Amino acid sequence: MTISTLLNDTICTEAEKNAEAVEKLPAFQGFKLSNVKSRVAMLLGHIGREQIFEQFTRHDITHINKMLGMLDWLIPERTQKAMTPCDWLMLTLSIYFHDSGMLVTRDEFARRANSGFPAYVSDVLLVGDAGKDLETKLASLSQEQRERFYYQEYVRHHHAKRIRAWSTGRNVSDLGDARLVVEEINKMLGALPETFRKDLGLVCESHHLNDLEDLSKYQVSQPYGDLPEESCNLQYIAVMLRTADLLHMTQDRTPSVEFRLIAPTDPISQQEWAKQMAVRTVRSRLGRDRDGVVDKDLPRDTIEVYAHFKEPSGFFGLTSFLSYAKRELQQSHAWVTYARKEGAANYEFPWRDIDDSHVEAEGFLRQQFEFTLDQGKILDLLTGHTIYNDATVVLRELTQNAIDAVRVQRIDAQEAGDRSYKGAIAVTWSSERRVLEVQDNGTGMSQAVIERHLLRAGSSKYQEADFRKRYPKFSPISRFGIGVLSCFMLADSVEIITAAPGDPQARLLSLRSVHGRYLIRTLDKKVDPEAKRVGAHGTVVRLHVRPSADVGDVAEIMRRWIVVPECEVTLSVDGLPAHRVGFDSVKAALSDELRRFGHVEGPELRVDEVSENGVTIACAVEWSDTFKEWSLVEIPRGGSDSPDTLVGTCVEGVRVEFTTPGYGQSAFYALCNVSGPGAPKTNVARSAFEVTGELYAALRVVYRAYCKQVADEASQLERRGFSKTWAAEEARWLLAPLWTGARPINSTLLDEAIAQVPLVVRESKGQRARVSIADIRSEEYWWTTDSALFTSAESLIREVPGDVSLAGIMSGIGSQVDVLPAGTLVCNMHGLTWSYPGELLRSRSEVDKIVVDTTRRRIDLRWRPSRGPALWMDVPEEANQVIRQIAERHRARRSYDYLVGSQSIEMVGLEGIVAVRAFGLLLIVPGSKLAEYLLGWLRRARAGLTRRAMRALAVAFECCDDALSSGRVVLDADEMRWMAQREGVSDEIDTDELRDAIGDSGSRVFDVSAWRRREVALHYEDFR
Ligand SMILES: Nc1ncnc2c1ncn2[C@@H]1O[C@H](COP(=O)(O)OP(=O)(O)OP(=O)(O)O)[C@@H](O)[C@H]1O
Ligand SMILES: [Mg+2]
Repeated sequence: MTISTLLNDTICTEAEKNAEAVEKLPAFQGFKLSNVKSRVAMLLGHIGREQIFEQFTRHDITHINKMLGMLDWLIPERTQKAMTPCDWLMLTLSIYFHDSGMLVTRDEFARRANSGFPAYVSDVLLVGDAGKDLETKLASLSQEQRERFYYQEYVRHHHAKRIRAWSTGRNVSDLGDARLVVEEINKMLGALPETFRKDLGLVCESHHLNDLEDLSKYQVSQPYGDLPEESCNLQYIAVMLRTADLLHMTQDRTPSVEFRLIAPTDPISQQEWAKQMAVRTVRSRLGRDRDGVVDKDLPRDTIEVYAHFKEPSGFFGLTSFLSYAKRELQQSHAWVTYARKEGAANYEFPWRDIDDSHVEAEGFLRQQFEFTLDQGKILDLLTGHTIYNDATVVLRELTQNAIDAVRVQRIDAQEAGDRSYKGAIAVTWSSERRVLEVQDNGTGMSQAVIERHLLRAGSSKYQEADFRKRYPKFSPISRFGIGVLSCFMLADSVEIITAAPGDPQARLLSLRSVHGRYLIRTLDKKVDPEAKRVGAHGTVVRLHVRPSADVGDVAEIMRRWIVVPECEVTLSVDGLPAHRVGFDSVKAALSDELRRFGHVEGPELRVDEVSENGVTIACAVEWSDTFKEWSLVEIPRGGSDSPDTLVGTCVEGVRVEFTTPGYGQSAFYALCNVSGPGAPKTNVARSAFEVTGELYAALRVVYRAYCKQVADEASQLERRGFSKTWAAEEARWLLAPLWTGARPINSTLLDEAIAQVPLVVRESKGQRARVSIADIRSEEYWWTTDSALFTSAESLIREVPGDVSLAGIMSGIGSQVDVLPAGTLVCNMHGLTWSYPGELLRSRSEVDKIVVDTTRRRIDLRWRPSRGPALWMDVPEEANQVIRQIAERHRARRSYDYLVGSQSIEMVGLEGIVAVRAFGLLLIVPGSKLAEYLLGWLRRARAGLTRRAMRALAVAFECCDDALSSGRVVLDADEMRWMAQREGVSDEIDTDELRDAIGDSGSRVFDVSAWRRREVALHYEDFR
């Protein structure tokens, strides 16, 4: 064969010449191969003409000739001799036609609307996310180009089926309307026997299937006439077709092989691939003897590929293709070997390997690199103390696995209509034999689960897509696929006996050290005593605890972890009778724990439980005979009375955290369990929760539950005959453990819950009501009023049950002057001052009107929710602390927060008054020189101050305060200088400026407590 013949469309290869021999056979009378070839050449010349498949070059007859030429060395000589003319014809024609399904004539494309194409585009191509991605990718193409690309995809999808239909002369419109091509093929193949044409279609289609082991479909001796030469080995021909197609990988390679590899298709990557092709030669490697020395006479089984690359992408494309090709060769080898035993002994397929050592890469190393794991070290890491940091977790991990197995089994039983199933888990510990066992009657493990999950660190069955699909409502505790490794913290020898339902055999695994290799023994469920113990389904995990390992107090450990297991869990230690572990509810669990520590439930101690959205929370409350109310039981700090089993948060019944739910420490006795798919997720060590939306949702419920407990109690108080004011005040006290005992994990969520508790007393139109902070915040305005008269009236109302109102009292005593401000009045502002809820109310509201009545010794403040630019500026907390320190050094303790007016507000009766004091606030009224002076400091502070300047700011405030409090109009300049000096900020403070600010404002502070001849007002902080 010469180069010139390669380009020819006449019969030029040995294979074709061998095929021509059929023309003499009776069954093939009238058939002329050379006619077919020239027509095929013409037909194939059309591929790509319609701009479909145009990026795949060389679909013409040269590609066919190359494949045919390869057969000279691909088919071993002995087989070539044994092949019939019929074999050769089938092979030749299948090579001619195998890709002609990709031919799209102008006529076919024009008729596309009549074919299966529109449905293919809408129902297959553009479906789902992949469809969306494809559309986006093709957005830059014109409508026409896009249509062509879609048609190409359609043809690509169907091309094997197309040629199968066409070879028997059928034009199937579902596969595209190709009537002209079908007519043409009919002309070419018309003289062939019908069965032969059918088989030709079968063979052509087969190079896109993977079923050549099916010898009933691909017969090894298919007869088309009476003569032995008139039969064909269809399977061998199909193998050779796919092999020639596979190995023709030089630049003019057909896309069909690539199609099997790359999906979804993308025009860009196809072009890329074609460009990168740099394969020079594909040929058989000479045989080698045992020492690797080349010997021409030895049989050959390896194919070598020569290529040179400059770009990594093409290189890795080819090397991964070659490993695919190698697998294909091995499969073909296996198919042919099988067929040789089934009557096709003379047909050989020697190829099994591909040598890619001649695929060269310029400028980069040939190997691909990736992260690998040092298995031994990683296993040590997982079984050491790094993750769990506590050997007692072994009991938790094993029990947890058992719980999940039981829960799955329960679902299976329910679905099968079996109501008798009762999950049971038995833990036993023998200190003498040092054997720890956890047995369950759950689902057990099949061989596949053992291999895929039990022995595969990091792979949890419960996280598999299949499992989730099968059990969509099941929310497992198991998550990470490493729990079982914790066994090796205590033991070097672990036995697992497990039986899956339906499997006649149980399995025994003996694991000696985590690094070993293990054998699995199968046990007859009916005979073997160990297997009989497990029964129809279930698992025993048996640990032979190392002498050096400390198991600890197993009963205590189980109690710590297993709280509400939802199935029977028992523990037996040293042969003593088994006792139950865990409880039916968190309420029962908390009651029992309290009892254990001497707090017996009764008239003075109770455990309440509430449930919402999969979160169940129990808290202990105690009765105060003095106050006639139930309150959360605070945990004495540092007391021996606070074992961590009395508090905690569990997931699916297993404890994760050992603190009061919602808190980082122990604050009061409460226990919580979260279950279901919305349960928060734990970290790998299961020692804390990950901060996720699920955690927030659970915390919200938890805080709400505490607040609801308090709110209910406040309502009870009213029912017990106390006034609204009393109930509101008590609600504030009852809530105190929520912020005094420990820091909440999320204070925003806690605040949200507190804002819903009715602890504010509101009067509006003579109606008195107990409402929440949230209710007040939703008002446009509200008032607070401070005067000795109102304070006294409030004290009176507090003691009077029923519906007495401030307005009622005022009109009752006939006071014409002391009318209440119009609108909503918050009556218990004094009580709220310095409290957490009070701060919550104040922090997002501002005073927008001040009314002072000096003769009535009364001050009314109108409040509104903060909006727009702030009306008041406050002192940064850092400076506040300095102010407090300085105040302590210089005079009595300070008992209020400064607010300096920065916007003009409504003010009535404030002539000559520069500041008002009420409800723990010192409001320096806007517009005054003093306010301007202090605002200057605050603005600078906002922009960032040094520590020294912060101290100077504190001194300035302190001096002003001093002047205000002492009632002296002008503070002695010396005194100011002295204070500045003492605090080391003489340079920062301009005393003249300071004196000017204080002096000129005719400084006077209005404070209703000034008339009280007691010193109490100075000691507000005691109530903080
Ligand atoms: N008692 C058991 N019954 C049935 N299957 C079990 C049992 N114990 C373990 N398995 C199987 O072995 C696998 C591995 O268990 P392992 O405890 O290591 O991981 P996990 O439970 O999936 O996840 P986690 O690390 O969160 O515990 C499980 O996914 C489960 O399929
Ligand atoms: Mg587990």
